[in-house]
Formats: sequence, C-alpha cells, structure tokens
Amino acid sequence: MPAATFPPGFLFGVAAASYQVEGAAAEGGRGPSIWDAFCAQPGRVHRGQDGSVACDQYHRYEEDAQLIADLGVSAYRLSVSWSRVLPTGEGEVNEEGVAYYDRLVDALLARGVEPWITLFHWDLPLALQHRGGWVNREVVGWFRGYTRVVADRLSDRVSNWFTLNEPACFVGLGHHTGMHAPGLRLPLAEVLRVQHHSNLAHGAAVDVLREHAKTPARVGAAPTGKACFPATDDPADAGAAARATFEVAEGKGMFFNHALSGDPMVLGRYPADLLTRFGDRMPAGFEDDLAAIQRPLDFYGINIYNGQPTRADASGRAVRQPASAGPPTTNIGWPIEPACIYWAAKQFHERYGLPMHITENGLASMDWVHADGVVHDPGRIDYTARHLWFLRKAVGEGVPVVGYFHWSVMDNFEWAEGYSKRFGLIYVDYETQERIPKDSYRWYREVVRSRGASL
Ligand code: NOJ
Repeated sequence: MPAATFPPGFLFGVAAASYQVEGAAAEGGRGPSIWDAFCAQPGRVHRGQDGSVACDQYHRYEEDAQLIADLGVSAYRLSVSWSRVLPTGEGEVNEEGVAYYDRLVDALLARGVEPWITLFHWDLPLALQHRGGWVNREVVGWFRGYTRVVADRLSDRVSNWFTLNEPACFVGLGHHTGMHAPGLRLPLAEVLRVQHHSNLAHGAAVDVLREHAKTPARVGAAPTGKACFPATDDPADAGAAARATFEVAEGKGMFFNHALSGDPMVLGRYPADLLTRFGDRMPAGFEDDLAAIQRPLDFYGINIYNGQPTRADASGRAVRQPASAGPPTTNIGWPIEPACIYWAAKQFHERYGLPMHITENGLASMDWVHADGVVHDPGRIDYTARHLWFLRKAVGEGVPVVGYFHWSVMDNFEWAEGYSKRFGLIYVDYETQERIPKDSYRWYREVVRSRGASL
C-alpha cells in the first residue's frame, strides 16, 4: 500500500532559473550571456523573443518571495547568472550583481524559504564563449573561479547547491543539434569534449564548495535524460526499461542521457557502451580526469517531465515503444506518462545509490485568465497529482527521494519557445507583470500543507 502522506521532512519546493525570470539583462552591471546573443539571432527563438525583461524578478523579488512563502514551500530552487556576478566570466566581481543575490537570498530566508542554488543554468557569459566556451578546457578553471565567488558571498546563508542544470541540454541542444545557445552543431568528438568539460567543471565546483563554503555544503547536480519505463507488468520489461534508460545510442538524442553525466559524476566512469562505440572520439587522456569528476555528492537531482514505454523483446533486448495515437500530450508536445517518475526513482536509486531530489517536474499548458478573472488549469493539477501519486508510491516502497521541486513557480521564458509555453503555478501577464496565482497554486499549497494527504 502506498503511504498516504510523504514522510515528515520531505521537502516541497518550486524552481526557476536566472535567465528565465530575472530580466534586467542590461542592468546592474550584468554582462551579456550566450542566451542574450542567441536570442538576438533571427529565427532562433519563437517570435524573436528574449529574456531581457522576462518576469522582471530582478525588480520584483520581494513580491515573488512573498508568493513563494505564501505557497508554504520550504525551498526555492533558483540559479545565479554567472555574467551578473562576473560580467566577463572571470576577473573583477560585479558588486551590484552580488548585491542582488544577497537581497534575494535574504528576502527568501526572512520568509522561511530556503534558497537552493543552481550554479549554472545555461547562461554562460558571452565573453567566455568568445574564448571557446565549453569546448575550451579552460572552462573548468573559469567555473571553479566563479563558484568560489558565489561560495564566498552566499554560503554563509545558503547550504544547498546544484552544480549544473541539465547538461543534456546545454551539451546536446547547445552544441550538437544547435537548438539552444550557443547554437552550434559540432562534430561528435567536439561535443564529447564539451560533455567531458561539463563533468570536470562539476567536480571542480563540488571541491570548491566543500573547501570554501561557510556553512556545511550539501551538493548535487540536476541532470536530465530519457526515462524508460516498463510498458507492461512483465518483469522482463522492467529490466529492459532500466537498461534502456542508460543506454547510449548515436543520433539527435544521444546527449539526452543521464549516464553521460551521472556515471562519471557518481560512479567515476563513462558508460561501457559509450566507450565501445565512440571511445575513439573521447578526449585524449579522459581516464586521468575521472577521479576529479567523481567527487562525493549528497544527493542526485532528476529533472523529469515524461518517459518512454519500453518492452523486452524475445531475446530480452529493450525495445522502445512508439507512442500510440491518443495518449495526452502537454502544450509543448511531450507525452504525459506519470509512471515514469516511479520507475526513474527506482532506476536511479539502483544505479547511483544516492538520496534523490526531483529537481524539476511540471506541465506546459494553455493557460489564460478566464472570464471569471481566475486562471483555471485543471490539466496542471491532474498532471502533478498523478506524478506525485507515483512519487509517493516510490517513497512508500523505501526509495530515498527526499524532495520535489515543481517547475515552475511562475510562467517564464521557455528558451527557444519564448513566452509561448506556460509552466507556472502563477500566471504572469507579460504586458503588466501582474502575477496571478492559478488554481494549481492553491491546489499545490494544500498538497504541501497536508504533505500529500490531499492528493
Ligand atoms: C528544463 C529546464 O531546466 C528548464 O529551464 C525548462 O524551462 C524546463 N525544463 C521546461 O522545459
């Protein structure tokens, strides 16, 4: 029987990221990031939109902190904009930028909300891109230096950290398919180099936080990737799905795979099938770096929105099932497969053995202010309820998932999709910047208050 509530101490939070909510792109001494540059290129982003204003959280952080506190959650997962703190990526600190995060952190803490900081959520300083960005191994030192500044300035009040958000996206979409900044389509060997550097940067940041944080640091990463789950009750399918989640196959989705980050970070090795197939294209001497990547972590973060039903064929090989016509999809076109969160939690526990946080989960839906002045979003409530049921089931079976961060606290800039996709519990009117809590905001507040008993 699944537990009726989440255990005491289970953490409920909400999440967002600097470029998606802050705005004030040219204010307070912030330097340009690769996302500013990418958005300025015609045809890259929906209707040529950008994050220059976004939700204007830079100016409205007090109001937003209050809305987060009123939701009853104990944590806000936010990211620091590297180029707001170090406008050219390294060198002189922009004190105005640091002061913004000081104010934001203080505003949250004053209201009983703990800031959980992601160091890198994709907005690399443009100046560093001009020096090769993630392709240049020096990025590891740049990231180490940036992490040191953030640790020095914020770790007296912040204890929970994520190094990198979704390497799958900034490596794969950014450097392989070109759909995200910096918009490159590099040869596979170069993309593998980017992947490797991202792993090294992670390891370096963990060390900096352990060494320099003023309060004991709890550190993890927040990767994403495919999540395969069994299409039937047949145990053979469960085994096949577990293997398929971490399988590496060439193609557009190759980098959308936890194993490329999670394996070196946690297990200290790259997956065997990656090395068998593409070992000749790995950066020379990568083996010597593995110890620097595999630094002890306190938790593993999983960003999860959907999954892929999978079956075992007669020989036990995993076969991903094509989506049948009819199952619901979100407004961004992703299938709704709530069981994926249960199976992913089990698979990741088995492979990595770490306590886990669901660092992102949520729904893009067609939201608007209805004629009664309220934003009704039953789809988001249903989606989230189903995922939380399955998560509660996993927790009830002893899988150590210790937190859930809903993506997102408010509608925001959805990267290449611009403002066309709304993921928030709070509706944002981008003309007026009015915040309107949706039905799902009140619903989630009750889930948090009752620790899931209301589900
Ligand atoms: C992944 C990313 O971390 C976040 O920035 C994005 O908005 C959501 N998932 C939804 O796509």
